[in-house]
Amino acid sequence: MSDTTYAPSATFAGNAHIDAAKYKDMYNASVTDNEGFWAEHGKRIDWIKPFTKVKDVNYGFGNVSINWYSDGTLNVAANCIDRHIASRANQTAIIWEPDSPDEASQHITYQELHDKTCQMSNVLKDLGVSKGDRVILYMPMIPEAAYAMLACARLGAIHSVVFGGFSPDALANRVNDCGAKVVITADEAPRGGRATPLKANADKAMTTCGDDVQLLVVRRTNGDVAWNDARDRDCTALMAAASTDCTPEEVNAEDPLFILYTSGSTGKPKGVVHTSGGYLVYASMTHELVFDYHDGDVYWCTADVGWVTGHSYIVYGPLANGGTTLMFEGVPTYPDASRFWQVCEKHKVNQFYTAPTAIRALMGQGPEFVENCDLSSLKLLGTVGEPINPEAWNWYNDVVGKGNCPIVDTWWQTETGGHLMTPLPGATATKPGSCTTPFFGIQPVILDAQSGQEIHDTEAEGVLCIKDSWPGQMRTVYGDHERFEQTYFSDYKGYYFTGDGCRRDADGYYWITGRVDDVINVSGHRMGTAEVESALVAHAKVAEAAVVGYPHDIKGQGIYAYVTLMSGEEPSEELRKELETWVRSEIGPIAKPDLIQWAPGLPKTRSGKIMRRILRKIAENDYGSLGDTSTLAEPAVVDDLIDNRMNR
Ligand code: WTA
Repeated sequence: MSDTTYAPSATFAGNAHIDAAKYKDMYNASVTDNEGFWAEHGKRIDWIKPFTKVKDVNYGFGNVSINWYSDGTLNVAANCIDRHIASRANQTAIIWEPDSPDEASQHITYQELHDKTCQMSNVLKDLGVSKGDRVILYMPMIPEAAYAMLACARLGAIHSVVFGGFSPDALANRVNDCGAKVVITADEAPRGGRATPLKANADKAMTTCGDDVQLLVVRRTNGDVAWNDARDRDCTALMAAASTDCTPEEVNAEDPLFILYTSGSTGKPKGVVHTSGGYLVYASMTHELVFDYHDGDVYWCTADVGWVTGHSYIVYGPLANGGTTLMFEGVPTYPDASRFWQVCEKHKVNQFYTAPTAIRALMGQGPEFVENCDLSSLKLLGTVGEPINPEAWNWYNDVVGKGNCPIVDTWWQTETGGHLMTPLPGATATKPGSCTTPFFGIQPVILDAQSGQEIHDTEAEGVLCIKDSWPGQMRTVYGDHERFEQTYFSDYKGYYFTGDGCRRDADGYYWITGRVDDVINVSGHRMGTAEVESALVAHAKVAEAAVVGYPHDIKGQGIYAYVTLMSGEEPSEELRKELETWVRSEIGPIAKPDLIQWAPGLPKTRSGKIMRRILRKIAENDYGSLGDTSTLAEPAVVDDLIDNRMNR
């Protein structure tokens, strides 16, 4: 925590879309006349049939329904492409930077984006995809991923992007959960000099999917892949032969645009549903104002399109604004730790948006990697995904930004569609580690976790909820509206519950303290502890498992697994490796436990409930405050776990 504040420079504020006075006026207007505010800003996108209704929202548990602009119609792809053609046909829409710096980068104009997207749409159409159908994308960070998202949007089909690091099982679960008609993948995904065999993974996934699911394969590396003539189609060849015209489908504002699976505190990942109109209004407005994006700027978000950040802030927000968005296939440390900065120099990046985990990793490599690059084009820096520690913030500010670039620490979630709390760079004085103040129309509240009462004092700490809706909010969990209501609207009635803990300081600034549920945040990737546990117990030698997060210098949180073996099984280094490999193959490399502790028993209440609070404390090396252990069935179990705690 840090109390140093950094006010926006007069020069930055003078050129910014929003300065301090404007923020204050607009924020007040946005909450006093929320509907009027969003009626006005709803006009920032093109509607086929303009909306007359703005907002129809019910947060009442049992009747939750969220609708924005619900009688308007539009096409999202037309908003991101066609409407810019008259004035920007030859402007670069996407700069693509490949994994290897030796391979040529690409500049894709709005006209080319139009043509490629239409070709992809026509390929999908020929496979029978139409409005409302689900299409899964399991792709590298290549322009075709953006074409595929926009092609679905053009047809009114619903895309669901699955991060390329997920395993075949995880992919199959998502294909089956949403009933996808087509899976779009590529032969291989180059990353950090290695190639992930996406097609081979997809082949494995297909063995547990319906026979009618079709596989569309983009040629990225032209590597050798197995081919099933009955099911597989060569996307690259089909696109080349397809027409560059495809009429955009008219969809309702509340028709789904995409499903994105994200981890929750229980059970399998849930399909977060975002719809078309409100989402696009919110993504484009936050992109423009939070990054202070101006015409002609080159903007780079380093996320993967497999996460919500890639949806809102690589594809939909920037393209709806007619911007130039950079898409990077690789990783920050390949070929070496200067890659991010070399790419900034090469493409004269103006706004750079990344995750604290990347900043920490690069900070550890020393300042030379940054100092050897010309970063004079940078105007603004952003972070997302987890709280940023002041040390990393200061390094970002001093070494990367040279003290000249405002930092926007953007707090938001897959569920929120766009930023909810963040500085506006020309308006908000920043404090390292704080996401500062709410965006327009957002009313954060801090509740006492036990009583559920709102804490009105300025200085407060508790659970973070949001009063009232905003256009970018998720609408439901795909196929399970009850789960949607249970997860977000049942604990604290009348509010959207974020799952985060939060502190508000004397200046009214918000500081996210981390998740209060069983979700952990590993390198900015959201992971349900229950998911990792169920993968572990699916192994034949594991009787029981409990997974918690623990502080990790680079990743923010690491995965700590307590594992009880089946009787007769002996712990060994070999078995530890076997379990690590197992979890990788069940979920994906990002879920691999960092530490596995053999636990002869787990601390449980007399009714058999695992006391995770205690497991968390042990993993955190914080035994002094184990709290009330009187309800433990077998207190000796705890001593054993403490004695055998794994060293980091
Ligand atoms: C955390 C990513 C602190 C938070 C866009 C949230 C953050 C979860 C920040 C959502 C931030 C995200 N400061 N914590 N700036 N941004 N988080 O769904 O715990 O992958 O609930 O969305 O990440 O993760 P998700």
